[in-house]
Amino acid sequence: MPNRRFVILTAILAASLAIAAQSPATLKDAYRDSFYVGAAVNAAQFTGSDLRGAAIVAKQFSSITPENVLKWERVHPRPGVYDFALPDKYVEFGEKNHMFIVGHCLVWHSQVPDWVFEDEKGKPLAREALLQRMREHIFAVVGRYKGRINSWDVVNEALNDDGSLRQTKWLQIIGEDYIAKAFEYAHQADPQAQLNYNDYSLENEAKRNGAIALIKKLQAQGIPVAAVGIQGHDSLDWPSAALEDAAIEAFAKLGVKVAITELDIDVLPPVAPGSADVSLNVKADPKLNPYLNGLPDAVQKALAERYAGLFGVYLKDRAVVSRVTLWGVTDGDSWRNDWPVVGRTSYPLLFDRMGEPKPAFDAVIRQAARPVQR
Ligand code: XIL
Repeated sequence: MPNRRFVILTAILAASLAIAAQSPATLKDAYRDSFYVGAAVNAAQFTGSDLRGAAIVAKQFSSITPENVLKWERVHPRPGVYDFALPDKYVEFGEKNHMFIVGHCLVWHSQVPDWVFEDEKGKPLAREALLQRMREHIFAVVGRYKGRINSWDVVNEALNDDGSLRQTKWLQIIGEDYIAKAFEYAHQADPQAQLNYNDYSLENEAKRNGAIALIKKLQAQGIPVAAVGIQGHDSLDWPSAALEDAAIEAFAKLGVKVAITELDIDVLPPVAPGSADVSLNVKADPKLNPYLNGLPDAVQKALAERYAGLFGVYLKDRAVVSRVTLWGVTDGDSWRNDWPVVGRTSYPLLFDRMGEPKPAFDAVIRQAARPVQR
């Protein structure tokens, strides 16, 4: 008779092996041969005060983007004042976990303080002075993380839905070449960093054509645009797989990579499908917030299928898709709880409010093992 202790130890060993064999694949491993899978992280996650969130990010993702801490208003809140405390921690977290580290974002119309565009008397700056300020900011921020932040969203959301240039203070004061200048400065500050143009709704034809024209113009000037970032603030029925595929292929023809930079899929009643305009602010209305107490199974399933469908497209186009980043980690963290309607209970990500993987997570993992469509 084997002794009791031996039997118990053997049973424990067998049980742990069985658990290890079943332990679910991770996103980063499932897609290792295809592209990075990233997450936008908030300060609680990368400083570890949200331990659960930090653990999910470290285990599941091979890339990170800072949700807010590198935006101008945070990193450079007042003239001559930089606050690198959180960005430093962000980059350390990425390095510790051997991740592809993204910087977001240098030149945008949102989350940039008014003083940036004004002189000491509050009068609008002239072109040269604003260019000088932009250069100084880019050199300070990109320069600090030279060789450590792998890729920068240099210009974010410069286009209108019709493909024309958005009327921002950057455009009004500097003129159209503010975009080329931002890329030039970023390239000078870190010649190795991959530089992106990032925007939403690039799947829609008019905006897509505007982006293509913009990239071609930059390329003709010798500006090193490495990738187009398709944000991917999607819904259950926009963009269709065909539209997503066509957009990725259209950018691929320009010889740039495509990164899906801010993926989330809204299941709530659509308010502004196909747009991610941060200025949208629709009045709260219970009709727009139907899943306060949980997501019905049918919707959960639809979300899982939708995620699988989009990952199927990214896999098909994996020769050009270099990264797919989700905009947040758990549903509770998502900006979509407050945009475009404040105070909704939203379910756009792969982990639920308890940090548990959703059916959409399993569907994305399974998709990686399916034959890639051609
Ligand atoms: C969002 C953040 O998630 C929010 O926390 C913040 O309040 C507003 O900005 N497009 C972008 C991102 O490029 O920077 C935005 O992030 C979402 C839309």
